[in-house]
Amino acid sequence: MASSISMNILFSFILLFSASCVVSYTIQDQFYQCITLYSDRSIPFSTAFFTPTSNATSFNSVLKSTAQNLRCLSPSQQKPLLIFTALIESHVQAAVICAKELKVQLRVRSGGHDYEGISYTSEMKRSVPFIMLDLAKLRAIKVDIEDNSAWVQAGATIGEVYYRIAEKSKTHGYPAGLCTSLGIGGHITGGAYGPMMRKYGLGADNVVDARIVDVSGRVLDRALMGEDLFWAIRGGGGGSFGIILAWKVRLVPVPSTVTVFTVPKTLETGATKVLHKWQHVAHKIDEDLFIRILITTVNSTKGKKTVQTAYQALFLGKTDRLLDVMNHSFPELGLTQKDCVEMSWIQSVIYIAGYPSNIKPEFLLQGKSLFPAVNFKAKSDFLRVPVPVTGLQGMWEKFLQDDSPMMIWNPYGGMMGKISESSIPFPHRKGVICKIQYLTAWTDGDKKTADKHINWIRGLYEYMGTFVSKYPREAYVNYRDLDLGMNKNANSNILEASVWGKKYYKNNYDRLVLVKTKVDPDNFFWHEQSLPILPFKVGQDGKSLIH
Ligand SMILES: Cc1cc2nc3c(=O)[nH]c(=O)nc-3n(C[C@H](O)[C@H](O)[C@H](O)COP(=O)(O)OP(=O)(O)OC[C@H]3O[C@@H](n4cnc5c(N)ncnc54)[C@H](O)[C@@H]3O)c2cc1C
Ligand SMILES: *[C@@H]1O[C@H](CO)[C@@H](O)[C@H](O)[C@H]1NC(C)=O
Ligand SMILES: *[C@@H]1O[C@H](CO)[C@@H](O)[C@H](O)[C@H]1NC(C)=O
Ligand SMILES: *[C@@H]1O[C@H](CO)[C@@H](O)[C@H](O)[C@H]1NC(C)=O
Repeated sequence: MASSISMNILFSFILLFSASCVVSYTIQDQFYQCITLYSDRSIPFSTAFFTPTSNATSFNSVLKSTAQNLRCLSPSQQKPLLIFTALIESHVQAAVICAKELKVQLRVRSGGHDYEGISYTSEMKRSVPFIMLDLAKLRAIKVDIEDNSAWVQAGATIGEVYYRIAEKSKTHGYPAGLCTSLGIGGHITGGAYGPMMRKYGLGADNVVDARIVDVSGRVLDRALMGEDLFWAIRGGGGGSFGIILAWKVRLVPVPSTVTVFTVPKTLETGATKVLHKWQHVAHKIDEDLFIRILITTVNSTKGKKTVQTAYQALFLGKTDRLLDVMNHSFPELGLTQKDCVEMSWIQSVIYIAGYPSNIKPEFLLQGKSLFPAVNFKAKSDFLRVPVPVTGLQGMWEKFLQDDSPMMIWNPYGGMMGKISESSIPFPHRKGVICKIQYLTAWTDGDKKTADKHINWIRGLYEYMGTFVSKYPREAYVNYRDLDLGMNKNANSNILEASVWGKKYYKNNYDRLVLVKTKVDPDNFFWHEQSLPILPFKVGQDGKSLIH
């Protein structure tokens, strides 16, 4: 085995060397040839390569296939030199070895939901050529109810995971994202929150093992990678440490009947007062209850544009107990029996995703969203002190200035407050009332339209600075925001990176940089917001620093 690998390396050197002497083979050709050398040739893979020159139509359709933010596909964005859709896990190993040999950057995509599209494009001014490794074909899911766990390959969507669990048991679930088309590969790397977080924590809090391809092309499981790296990959952000092949997740109990509701309040029907109250109760209320707020603009009955706050909830129990909880803790919302709908947990997944009630759970197996992709820009904040009524009123004023504004207020507390800030790299825990997400979306590709929306969201974010967490102003790494700063190249400046690093990871940033330096000392895995390496070497124990 070892000798055949070194033979391969020898071969590829001869090949690459002679190639560069004879004719100028493109990087694409060289990558293909290199993959050929390292791959199991009994699995044909010539159909797994897409370049803009060989067939632009198929290249663009693969590039777009899971890209969630059309803004990142605009002509000014840099596209991959080549897309390689790995068909078997050893292709991922080969891709790492070959990209390294060719000194070309490798970007990896699982579900394509990155907010800044960095898994498939780049806005780097000075172009950095890169190859995109797409894991969409690696999506096997193996649920083991006896073991209370599931092994999931990186390219599977979270909706498929939920479906495969529910197919085997009505009383098991997994506490991750609300949007069913998220790729589990990238999703868990940043935390992965959803409507069961107050009861069970994040998706990343419920991972028991993982398989990762490291910078040398080796496959490591938890025992082989060690606890430092296993800690870092559960919340330290995607694309910094290696390529996750699969996660082993722990299942959690769900009742066979859950209850959902959505109750809207507009400015005319008390939105400000109810939101003010929600900030005092949503993080303290029964852990079985998750009430988020979707804030948009609507036309009031008088035809005037107004703000609508929709209280959308999942309750891990039945209507009777839910009404008791609400009457006791949050009567201001005025929830009644007829607002409540009882259903199975898997149906609640469909409901919370915002799909109509005629959509069957089987839809999740399509691995895509019901909604078309749009151009969007988003930002996030964490609230630790309630916003006063006057602050909310100023916020509405700003909010009404955009033509497609949205905010999502997402409650914390419960289990989220019980897990320590350093348990995994995701640090936003005790004392957080809620996370606020700001969003704006548009459909035309005009730069002026984009600028207008982006300026608006930056203005709202600036306004909210007074009210939200400070020093650092925390942000959710899975809502990646390049406004917070970015690496210009692989020689990223560790101090510059600490600006966004502390927002995403707080005090876990320093340990993440140590782990990064230890496992990827040459910074092969880098992107606009990857973790930087220390400018000096780190010892095997990850602690003793040798200058
Ligand atoms: C519409 C929408 C709804 C969302 N809803 C939620 C939600 O409910 N809860 C929540 O927590 N988040 C949510 N998110 C954010 C989401 O969790 C992140 O965007 C997440 O990174 C997406 O993972 P992905 O695999 O789909 O994305 P990708 O774009 O494929 O990857 C995201 C990042 O991870 C890296 N990466 C991808 N695959 C791997 C891998 N196998 N190994 C190592 N690194 C990898 C990429 O290089 C990139 O840096 C939402 C995003 C969108 C667009
Ligand atoms: C390019 O790809 C498209 C779609 O995959 C296919 O229909 C078309 O025939 C291809 N064109 C060429 C010239 O191979
Ligand atoms: C609200 O009214 C405006 C102007 O009359 C109209 O253009 C818009 O489509 C309406 N929006 C909704 C959501 O009905
Ligand atoms: C709500 O609680 C009050 C007492 O706190 C009680 O009088 C009332 O009947 C309850 N209402 C409902 C609908 O349960």
